[in-house]
Amino acid sequence: RKEGFPHYMLKEIHEQPRVIAETIRGFGPDYERGAELLSDAEVIYVVASGTSYHASLYFALLTMKIAGKKVIPLISSEYAGYVSSASERDALLAVSQSGETIDTLMAMRAFKERGVRTVSLTNVIGSVISRESDHQVYMKAGPEIGVAATKTFTVQLTALTWLSALIARNVGAMDEKDAESLLERMKKIPDLAEKVINAYSGWCKETGTFMSEKSSAYYLSRGLGLPIALEGALKLKEIAYVHAEGYPAGESKHGPIALVERGFPVVFVSVERELEKKLLGNVEEMRARGAYTIGVVPQDSELRGHFDREVVVPSSDEVAVPILATIPLQLVAYYSAVERGLDPDKPRNLAKTVTVE
Ligand code: M6R
Repeated sequence: RKEGFPHYMLKEIHEQPRVIAETIRGFGPDYERGAELLSDAEVIYVVASGTSYHASLYFALLTMKIAGKKVIPLISSEYAGYVSSASERDALLAVSQSGETIDTLMAMRAFKERGVRTVSLTNVIGSVISRESDHQVYMKAGPEIGVAATKTFTVQLTALTWLSALIARNVGAMDEKDAESLLERMKKIPDLAEKVINAYSGWCKETGTFMSEKSSAYYLSRGLGLPIALEGALKLKEIAYVHAEGYPAGESKHGPIALVERGFPVVFVSVERELEKKLLGNVEEMRARGAYTIGVVPQDSELRGHFDREVVVPSSDEVAVPILATIPLQLVAYYSAVERGLDPDKPRNLAKTVTVE
Protein backbone atom coordinates (compact mmCIF):
# COMPACT_ATOMS: atom_id res chain seq x y z
CA ARG A 1 0.00 0.00 0.00
CA LYS A 2 1.18 3.44 -0.90
CA GLU A 3 -0.43 5.06 2.17
CA GLY A 4 -1.51 8.20 0.38
CA PHE A 5 1.71 8.67 -1.60
CA PRO A 6 1.40 8.72 -5.41
CA HIS A 7 4.29 6.27 -5.78
CA TYR A 8 6.14 3.71 -3.67
CA MET A 9 9.38 5.51 -4.38
CA LEU A 10 8.15 8.67 -2.67
CA LYS A 11 6.70 6.66 0.21
CA GLU A 12 10.00 4.84 0.66
CA ILE A 13 11.99 8.09 0.58
CA HIS A 14 9.72 9.39 3.34
CA GLU A 15 10.19 6.21 5.38
CA GLN A 16 13.90 6.82 5.74
CA PRO A 17 13.87 8.55 9.15
CA ARG A 18 11.94 5.62 10.64
CA VAL A 19 13.89 2.77 9.06
CA ILE A 20 17.26 4.37 9.80
CA ALA A 21 16.16 4.60 13.45
CA GLU A 22 15.04 0.96 13.40
CA THR A 23 18.32 -0.15 11.89
CA ILE A 24 20.26 1.70 14.60
CA ARG A 25 18.08 0.11 17.28
CA GLY A 26 18.88 -3.26 15.71
CA PHE A 27 22.68 -2.93 16.06
CA GLY A 28 23.44 -6.03 18.10
CA PRO A 29 25.57 -9.15 18.38
CA ASP A 30 25.33 -9.87 14.62
CA TYR A 31 27.17 -6.59 13.95
CA GLU A 32 29.75 -7.31 16.66
CA ARG A 33 30.48 -10.79 15.31
CA GLY A 34 30.55 -9.58 11.68
CA ALA A 35 32.96 -6.79 12.59
CA GLU A 36 35.15 -9.25 14.50
CA LEU A 37 35.42 -11.52 11.51
CA LEU A 38 36.29 -8.59 9.23
CA SER A 39 38.73 -7.06 11.73
CA ASP A 40 40.73 -10.30 11.83
CA ALA A 41 41.23 -10.35 8.07
CA GLU A 42 44.40 -9.22 6.37
CA VAL A 43 42.41 -7.69 3.51
CA ILE A 44 38.67 -7.04 3.45
CA TYR A 45 37.02 -7.37 0.06
CA VAL A 46 33.58 -5.79 -0.25
CA VAL A 47 31.45 -6.88 -3.16
CA ALA A 48 28.10 -5.62 -4.50
CA SER A 49 26.20 -4.35 -7.55
CA GLY A 50 24.44 -1.10 -8.41
CA THR A 51 23.33 0.98 -5.46
CA SER A 52 24.70 -1.59 -3.03
CA TYR A 53 28.09 -1.13 -4.69
CA HIS A 54 27.93 2.59 -3.95
CA ALA A 55 27.26 1.78 -0.29
CA SER A 56 30.16 -0.69 -0.38
CA LEU A 57 32.51 1.90 -1.82
CA TYR A 58 31.50 4.18 1.04
CA PHE A 59 32.27 1.41 3.52
CA ALA A 60 35.69 0.83 1.96
CA LEU A 61 36.64 4.52 2.05
CA LEU A 62 35.34 5.00 5.59
CA THR A 63 37.00 1.87 6.98
CA MET A 64 40.34 2.79 5.44
CA LYS A 65 39.98 6.29 6.88
CA ILE A 66 38.88 5.52 10.43
CA ALA A 67 40.33 2.04 10.96
CA GLY A 68 43.40 2.18 8.72
CA LYS A 69 42.41 -1.23 7.44
CA LYS A 70 42.95 -2.36 3.87
CA VAL A 71 39.61 -2.70 2.07
CA ILE A 72 39.16 -3.48 -1.62
CA PRO A 73 35.72 -2.60 -3.04
CA LEU A 74 34.65 -4.37 -6.18
CA ILE A 75 31.67 -4.61 -8.48
CA SER A 76 30.29 -8.15 -8.27
CA SER A 77 30.39 -8.92 -11.98
CA GLU A 78 34.09 -7.97 -12.02
CA TYR A 79 35.14 -10.46 -9.33
CA ALA A 80 37.26 -12.59 -11.69
CA GLY A 81 39.99 -9.96 -11.79
CA TYR A 82 40.30 -9.88 -7.99
CA VAL A 83 39.65 -13.37 -6.70
CA SER A 84 42.96 -14.95 -7.70
CA SER A 85 44.91 -12.75 -5.28
CA ALA A 86 42.61 -13.52 -2.31
CA SER A 87 43.73 -15.93 0.43
CA GLU A 88 42.44 -17.68 3.56
CA ARG A 89 43.69 -14.77 5.63
CA ASP A 90 41.18 -12.44 3.93
CA ALA A 91 37.45 -11.82 4.42
CA LEU A 92 34.68 -10.81 2.08
CA LEU A 93 31.66 -8.66 2.88
CA ALA A 94 28.80 -9.18 0.40
CA VAL A 95 26.28 -6.32 0.38
CA SER A 96 22.90 -6.92 -1.23
CA GLN A 97 19.51 -5.47 -0.41
CA SER A 98 17.60 -8.46 -1.79
CA GLY A 99 20.23 -11.04 -0.93
CA GLU A 100 19.42 -12.66 -4.28
CA THR A 101 21.56 -10.80 -6.85
CA ILE A 102 23.23 -13.49 -8.93
CA ASP A 103 26.39 -11.47 -9.67
CA THR A 104 27.03 -10.94 -5.97
CA LEU A 105 26.24 -14.57 -5.18
CA MET A 106 28.67 -15.81 -7.85
CA ALA A 107 31.39 -13.49 -6.58
CA MET A 108 30.86 -14.67 -3.01
CA ARG A 109 31.02 -18.33 -4.04
CA ALA A 110 34.27 -17.75 -5.95
CA PHE A 111 35.90 -16.09 -2.92
CA LYS A 112 34.63 -18.86 -0.64
CA GLU A 113 36.28 -21.42 -2.85
CA ARG A 114 39.61 -19.78 -2.09
CA GLY A 115 39.00 -20.16 1.62
CA VAL A 116 37.94 -16.54 2.19
CA ARG A 117 35.54 -16.12 5.14
CA THR A 118 32.31 -14.35 4.21
CA VAL A 119 29.96 -11.93 5.91
CA SER A 120 26.71 -10.77 4.29
CA LEU A 121 24.72 -7.59 4.82
CA THR A 122 21.21 -8.03 3.43
CA ASN A 123 17.68 -6.80 4.02
CA VAL A 124 16.02 -10.20 3.64
CA ILE A 125 16.30 -12.91 6.26
CA GLY A 126 16.91 -16.30 4.71
CA SER A 127 17.89 -14.91 1.29
CA VAL A 128 20.38 -17.02 -0.65
CA ILE A 129 23.36 -14.68 -0.09
CA SER A 130 22.73 -14.63 3.63
CA ARG A 131 22.24 -18.41 3.74
CA GLU A 132 25.49 -19.11 1.93
CA SER A 133 27.61 -16.63 3.90
CA ASP A 134 29.52 -17.68 7.02
CA HIS A 135 28.00 -14.85 9.04
CA GLN A 136 24.84 -12.80 8.52
CA VAL A 137 24.22 -9.16 9.36
CA TYR A 138 20.77 -7.71 8.70
CA MET A 139 19.54 -4.20 8.13
CA LYS A 140 15.97 -3.24 8.89
CA ALA A 141 14.71 -1.23 5.93
CA GLY A 142 11.53 -3.30 5.53
CA PRO A 143 10.31 -4.34 2.06
CA GLU A 144 11.21 -1.99 -0.77
CA ILE A 145 8.72 -2.08 -3.66
CA GLY A 146 10.07 0.69 -5.90
CA VAL A 147 12.62 -0.68 -8.35
CA ALA A 148 14.99 2.14 -7.50
CA ALA A 149 16.78 1.54 -4.22
CA THR A 150 16.18 4.49 -1.89
CA LYS A 151 15.63 3.68 1.77
CA THR A 152 17.76 0.56 1.47
CA PHE A 153 20.73 2.71 0.40
CA THR A 154 20.62 5.08 3.37
CA VAL A 155 20.02 2.11 5.65
CA GLN A 156 23.04 0.36 4.14
CA LEU A 157 25.12 3.49 4.79
CA THR A 158 23.87 3.47 8.38
CA ALA A 159 24.66 -0.20 8.93
CA LEU A 160 28.04 0.01 7.21
CA THR A 161 29.07 3.09 9.20
CA TRP A 162 28.53 1.11 12.37
CA LEU A 163 30.46 -1.88 11.03
CA SER A 164 33.36 0.47 10.14
CA ALA A 165 33.30 1.97 13.63
CA LEU A 166 33.34 -1.49 15.25
CA ILE A 167 36.27 -2.51 13.05
CA ALA A 168 38.10 0.70 14.00
CA ARG A 169 37.49 -0.09 17.67
CA ASN A 170 38.56 -3.72 17.28
CA VAL A 171 41.86 -2.83 15.63
CA GLY A 172 42.58 -0.15 18.24
CA ALA A 173 42.15 2.85 15.94
CA MET A 174 39.18 4.11 17.99
CA ASP A 175 38.56 3.70 21.71
CA GLU A 176 35.35 2.39 23.25
CA LYS A 177 34.29 5.87 24.32
CA ASP A 178 34.63 7.29 20.81
CA ALA A 179 32.69 4.37 19.35
CA GLU A 180 29.89 5.05 21.84
CA SER A 181 29.83 8.74 21.02
CA LEU A 182 29.73 7.92 17.31
CA LEU A 183 26.64 5.83 17.98
CA GLU A 184 25.05 8.72 19.87
CA ARG A 185 25.75 10.98 16.89
CA MET A 186 24.18 8.44 14.56
CA LYS A 187 21.01 8.47 16.64
CA LYS A 188 20.45 12.07 15.59
CA ILE A 189 20.27 11.14 11.90
CA PRO A 190 16.55 10.19 11.76
CA ASP A 191 15.38 13.63 13.00
CA LEU A 192 17.81 15.39 10.69
CA ALA A 193 16.59 13.30 7.75
CA GLU A 194 13.04 14.34 8.55
CA LYS A 195 14.16 17.97 8.50
CA VAL A 196 15.79 17.56 5.08
CA ILE A 197 12.60 16.06 3.65
CA ASN A 198 10.43 18.83 5.11
CA ALA A 199 12.72 21.70 4.21
CA TYR A 200 13.75 20.64 0.72
CA SER A 201 10.85 18.78 -0.95
CA GLY A 202 9.76 21.99 -2.74
CA TRP A 203 13.34 22.79 -3.71
CA CYS A 204 13.78 19.26 -5.08
CA LYS A 205 10.58 19.54 -7.11
CA GLU A 206 11.86 22.72 -8.78
CA THR A 207 15.28 21.21 -9.36
CA GLY A 208 13.63 18.04 -10.69
CA THR A 209 11.65 20.09 -13.20
CA PHE A 210 14.89 21.79 -14.27
CA MET A 211 16.68 18.43 -14.64
CA SER A 212 13.78 16.87 -16.54
CA GLU A 213 14.47 19.27 -19.42
CA LYS A 214 18.16 18.39 -19.62
CA SER A 215 19.72 15.60 -21.62
CA SER A 216 22.78 15.12 -19.46
CA ALA A 217 24.22 15.97 -16.03
CA TYR A 218 27.33 15.40 -13.92
CA TYR A 219 27.43 14.54 -10.24
CA LEU A 220 30.83 15.30 -8.79
CA SER A 221 32.48 14.88 -5.42
CA ARG A 222 35.64 13.86 -3.63
CA GLY A 223 36.39 11.26 -0.97
CA LEU A 224 33.48 9.98 1.09
CA GLY A 225 31.10 12.09 -0.98
CA LEU A 226 31.93 10.25 -4.19
CA PRO A 227 29.67 7.22 -3.53
CA ILE A 228 26.83 9.66 -2.82
CA ALA A 229 27.44 11.47 -6.12
CA LEU A 230 27.56 8.13 -7.98
CA GLU A 231 24.25 7.16 -6.40
CA GLY A 232 22.64 10.52 -7.26
CA ALA A 233 23.61 10.03 -10.90
CA LEU A 234 22.34 6.44 -10.96
CA LYS A 235 18.96 7.53 -9.57
CA LEU A 236 18.50 10.23 -12.22
CA LYS A 237 19.51 7.84 -14.97
CA GLU A 238 17.37 4.87 -13.99
CA ILE A 239 14.19 6.74 -13.04
CA ALA A 240 14.14 9.87 -15.22
CA TYR A 241 16.19 8.51 -18.16
CA VAL A 242 18.38 11.60 -18.09
CA HIS A 243 21.96 10.67 -18.87
CA ALA A 244 23.96 11.32 -15.72
CA GLU A 245 27.50 10.52 -14.77
CA GLY A 246 28.94 10.42 -11.30
CA TYR A 247 32.63 11.22 -11.31
CA PRO A 248 35.46 12.12 -8.95
CA ALA A 249 35.57 15.92 -9.19
CA GLY A 250 39.33 15.95 -9.67
CA GLU A 251 39.02 13.68 -12.70
CA SER A 252 36.56 15.90 -14.50
CA LYS A 253 39.27 17.96 -16.14
CA HIS A 254 40.81 14.77 -17.51
CA GLY A 255 37.99 14.35 -19.99
CA PRO A 256 34.37 14.85 -18.91
CA ILE A 257 34.66 18.65 -18.75
CA ALA A 258 34.78 18.67 -22.56
CA LEU A 259 30.99 18.23 -22.59
CA VAL A 260 30.30 21.20 -20.36
CA GLU A 261 28.74 24.25 -21.97
CA ARG A 262 26.37 27.00 -20.86
CA GLY A 263 23.53 25.61 -18.72
CA PHE A 264 25.01 22.10 -18.36
CA PRO A 265 23.95 20.88 -14.89
CA VAL A 266 26.71 19.87 -12.51
CA VAL A 267 25.74 18.66 -9.05
CA PHE A 268 28.44 18.84 -6.36
CA VAL A 269 28.28 16.86 -3.15
CA SER A 270 30.52 17.89 -0.27
CA VAL A 271 31.04 15.66 2.73
CA GLU A 272 34.55 16.12 4.08
CA ARG A 273 35.69 19.50 5.33
CA GLU A 274 39.34 18.87 4.48
CA LEU A 275 38.51 18.30 0.81
CA GLU A 276 36.44 21.45 0.33
CA LYS A 277 39.23 23.72 -0.89
CA LYS A 278 39.98 21.37 -3.74
CA LEU A 279 36.29 20.86 -4.45
CA LEU A 280 35.84 24.64 -4.65
CA GLY A 281 38.49 24.69 -7.39
CA ASN A 282 36.37 22.18 -9.32
CA VAL A 283 33.22 24.25 -8.80
CA GLU A 284 35.01 27.29 -10.20
CA GLU A 285 36.28 25.31 -13.19
CA MET A 286 32.71 24.38 -14.03
CA ARG A 287 31.30 27.85 -13.46
CA ALA A 288 33.96 29.32 -15.74
CA ARG A 289 32.51 27.16 -18.52
CA GLY A 290 28.97 28.31 -17.87
CA ALA A 291 27.81 25.16 -16.07
CA TYR A 292 24.67 25.44 -13.94
CA THR A 293 25.97 24.36 -10.54
CA ILE A 294 23.93 22.72 -7.82
CA GLY A 295 25.49 22.10 -4.42
CA VAL A 296 24.61 19.73 -1.60
CA VAL A 297 26.75 20.82 1.33
CA PRO A 298 27.00 20.58 5.13
CA GLN A 299 25.90 23.39 7.41
CA ASP A 300 29.39 24.72 8.14
CA SER A 301 30.58 24.37 4.52
CA GLU A 302 32.93 26.90 3.00
CA LEU A 303 31.21 26.22 -0.29
CA ARG A 304 27.92 27.82 0.73
CA GLY A 305 26.95 30.56 -1.66
CA HIS A 306 29.16 29.29 -4.48
CA PHE A 307 26.40 27.54 -6.44
CA ASP A 308 23.46 28.57 -8.59
CA ARG A 309 21.25 26.52 -6.26
CA GLU A 310 22.11 24.70 -3.08
CA VAL A 311 20.88 22.40 -0.36
CA VAL A 312 22.40 23.00 3.06
CA VAL A 313 21.96 19.81 5.06
CA PRO A 314 21.16 20.58 8.72
CA SER A 315 24.36 19.09 10.13
CA SER A 316 28.13 19.27 9.86
CA ASP A 317 28.71 15.85 11.38
CA GLU A 318 30.64 13.67 8.94
CA VAL A 319 28.76 10.63 10.17
CA ALA A 320 25.40 12.17 9.25
CA VAL A 321 26.12 14.32 6.19
CA PRO A 322 26.54 11.53 3.57
CA ILE A 323 23.19 10.00 4.55
CA LEU A 324 21.42 13.36 4.63
CA ALA A 325 22.99 14.49 1.34
CA THR A 326 21.53 11.42 -0.40
CA ILE A 327 17.92 12.39 0.25
CA PRO A 328 17.68 15.52 -1.95
CA LEU A 329 19.34 13.60 -4.80
CA GLN A 330 16.68 10.88 -4.53
CA LEU A 331 13.91 13.49 -4.53
CA VAL A 332 15.36 15.35 -7.52
CA ALA A 333 15.41 12.09 -9.52
CA TYR A 334 11.87 11.28 -8.39
CA TYR A 335 10.44 14.67 -9.40
CA SER A 336 12.35 14.63 -12.72
CA ALA A 337 10.69 11.32 -13.58
CA VAL A 338 7.24 12.54 -12.56
CA GLU A 339 7.72 15.75 -14.56
CA ARG A 340 8.59 13.65 -17.59
CA GLY A 341 5.40 11.64 -17.17
CA LEU A 342 7.27 8.46 -16.21
CA ASP A 343 6.37 5.91 -13.55
CA PRO A 344 9.29 6.03 -11.10
CA ASP A 345 8.25 2.74 -9.55
CA LYS A 346 8.66 0.80 -12.77
CA PRO A 347 11.56 2.04 -14.87
CA ARG A 348 11.86 0.37 -18.26
CA ASN A 349 14.31 -2.50 -18.74
CA LEU A 350 14.98 -2.89 -15.01
CA ALA A 351 14.02 -5.59 -12.55
CA LYS A 352 14.06 -5.17 -8.78
CA THR A 353 16.23 -8.23 -8.41
CA VAL A 354 18.65 -9.32 -11.10
CA THR A 355 18.91 -13.10 -11.11
CA VAL A 356 20.62 -13.62 -14.49
CA GLU A 357 24.35 -13.05 -14.99
O1 M6R B 1 19.49 -6.42 -4.19
P1 M6R B 1 20.82 -5.82 -4.47
O2 M6R B 1 21.20 -4.76 -3.51
O3 M6R B 1 21.90 -6.86 -4.59
O4 M6R B 1 20.67 -5.14 -5.89
C1 M6R B 1 21.75 -4.57 -6.54
C2 M6R B 1 21.33 -3.76 -7.73
O5 M6R B 1 20.68 -4.53 -8.69
C3 M6R B 1 20.41 -2.59 -7.33
O6 M6R B 1 21.00 -1.78 -6.36
C4 M6R B 1 20.07 -1.73 -8.56
O7 M6R B 1 21.22 -1.03 -8.98
C5 M6R B 1 18.91 -0.79 -8.30
N1 M6R B 1 18.14 -0.64 -9.48
C6 M6R B 1 19.35 0.55 -7.85
O8 M6R B 1 18.32 1.49 -7.74
